[in-house]
Parts: sequence; structure tokens; C-alpha cells
Amino acid sequence: MSTPTPNNLTLIRPDDWHVHFRDDAILQAVVPYTASQFGRAIVMPNLMPPITSISAANSYRDRILAAVPEDISFDPLMTAYLTDTTDSNELAEGYEQGVFTAVKLYPANATTNSSHGVSDLHNVYGVLEKMQSIGMPLLIHGEVTDPTIDIFDREAVFIETILQPLIHDFRELRIVLEHVTTEEAVEFVTDRHASAPGKIGATITAHHLMINRTDIFRGGIRPHLYCLPIAKRERHRLALRKAAISGEGPFFLGTDTAPHSISAKESNCGCAGIFSSPVAMQAYAQVFDEENALEKLEDFASRNGPAFYGLPENEDTITLRRCERNSVDRVSVSGEDDVMPFLAEEGIIWSVN
Ligand code: NCD
Ligand code: ZN
Repeated sequence: MSTPTPNNLTLIRPDDWHVHFRDDAILQAVVPYTASQFGRAIVMPNLMPPITSISAANSYRDRILAAVPEDISFDPLMTAYLTDTTDSNELAEGYEQGVFTAVKLYPANATTNSSHGVSDLHNVYGVLEKMQSIGMPLLIHGEVTDPTIDIFDREAVFIETILQPLIHDFRELRIVLEHVTTEEAVEFVTDRHASAPGKIGATITAHHLMINRTDIFRGGIRPHLYCLPIAKRERHRLALRKAAISGEGPFFLGTDTAPHSISAKESNCGCAGIFSSPVAMQAYAQVFDEENALEKLEDFASRNGPAFYGLPENEDTITLRRCERNSVDRVSVSGEDDVMPFLAEEGIIWSVN
């Protein structure tokens, strides 16, 4: 890596270990943003219907690749959506063939398009045993779904009541706790990594490094800052920043970019999801810069993820440059409403090429 200066920074091309591309017109509109910054991305399988088979993953991958601009090389890494009735042989075969990189666990009804998720982890113990034996990673949306649990507590309660027992039963299972939002999650991942290196990873989004729960209500309700897991108190945001800039192995970049049309967000019952891919590396650079930790950005964005997944680092580089404040435009989707990107109001002070 070249020596970081306050004004520009060249990094090994980063990867995004958590994205939602959707399908059809919206996929066409959003894929180029991720592909222009990242070498690879873990693609979430929560389509309707979800991606549960090798053939569905292969054709989804082809549709993604068809949306990548010709002059860009980009490798979408596919995931399988775990259901109560997933066939472990289909997963194992997909993993062996290199079609599936990992399996995604959504607790049933935890978030957008998760109605087919797992209703009781004991239903998938056979599948988890198989995954553990072949080293296939389990990517977890870590929130309980009990409607009586306060929404701001759902991640911490998940860790205590679901994740701890899961790890007890599957000591060798490789797990990524996705989009961590709490101090409790950071502590859990740090401790687990200390006792079982290589068995745990955690993605951190740019928005959870930038906003806390008060920001969602700044001057009025701000539907474009609503996502799941929901942003928490300031002390949690600060714990996430500390984890991200630590450069420590288990923490890596995952934007959870999750586009929804403006009408689906600005509604009586608005969808969860923040669309951040147009400003992804710009936002992370701003955070690391604010923390005087730009020299750690490459570990977080370009090294720790491949190390966890057992993949080589990308061979090319990107350069981030400090710039005048640039505005961030809405993204138009053919035949549908526009999508509002993260930081559309604030603008960005870094550029990427
Ligand atoms: C995601 C989506 O819209 O698919 N939404 C979100 O708020 N993050 C699903 C998810 O990752 O929870
Ligand atoms: Zn997600």
C-alpha cells in the first residue's frame, strides 16, 4: 500500500461482503455501482422467491454479470438462502462446485423478504452439521423476531439466546455475524475470535458507522435511514468505529446496500434498507479519515474479508481522493421509481477511481 496522505489513498481493490442486488430493472440500475468499486461481492439471496438451488444461483449470477459494464471485471459470490427444509446435499454440491460461497440464515420474518427463513434453528441442525464438516460459512442476520422484544435489543438478545448456544453446539462452524450494530456484538466477535481464530467474522456497514438512532428522527422521521438491524445508540456507533479501524481480522467491509424504490421507503409502512453502493468507499474513507485511521482502511476493506473466506486478495487497486463536497444523485430505475442513495443530503467529500 502506498503511504496514506490526507488527500489521496491507493488501496488493494476492496470487496463488499454483503450486498442486495434485487432483480430485473433495479438490478440493472444498481450492479454497476458495486462493480465499479469492488472486485467481488457476497450477494444476498433474499429474492422473492429466494435463491435456494444451484440452478437458481447460477442463473441469478448470469443476470448480475449481464448488468456489469463491459470494461469492468467483477465477481459476484453467490449465497444460498437457508429454509426449514433446505437439502444439505444441494448446499454441499453447490459449495464444492464453487457456485455457493456461503449460506445465509434469516430468522423467519426478521427483515425484508425473509418470510421463508428459518423458524427454529433445530430444524436445520442436520444442514449445519454438514456445513461445519465441509467448512462452508454461515452468514447470520442476527436479530430475534419475537415482537415483544424491543427492536433496539433484538441483536443483543439474539447473541445471548441463539448465537451463544449455536456456537456451543457447533464449535467448528464458520460464522459471519452480518451488519453488527452493537457493542455487545463487537465484544462477542472479539472474544470468539480470540478463542477460535478463523471461525468468526463480522461485517460492518458504512451507515452504522455514520448514524445513530437519533439521526433517524433528526427534525422529523427519515425513512431513508431506516434499515435492519436498526441503528442503535451513540455508544454502539462508537464501538463499531473502534472495531472497524482496529484493522483486526474478524471485522470487514459489508455495505448491506439494500435498494428500495422511494415510494416503498416513503410510505405508511416503509421498507427497511439503506442504498449505499453509490457512496460506499467514499463513506468508509470519510469515517476512517475522521478517526485518523486511513492506514487501517485497507485491512478492513481489502484484506480481512478475503482472509476469512480463504480467497486471494484482489490484484488491482483503487484510489480514493479527497474532493470538494459532491452531491449524490438519485438513481433512476427503468419503468420504476428512483432509488434514494445514502448521503444524498450530505454529499460526499471523497471520490473513487
Ligand atoms: C435488507 C433488504 O432490504 O433486503 N434490509 C435491510 O434493512 N438491511 C435485508 C437485510 O439485510 O436485513
Ligand atoms: Zn442485508
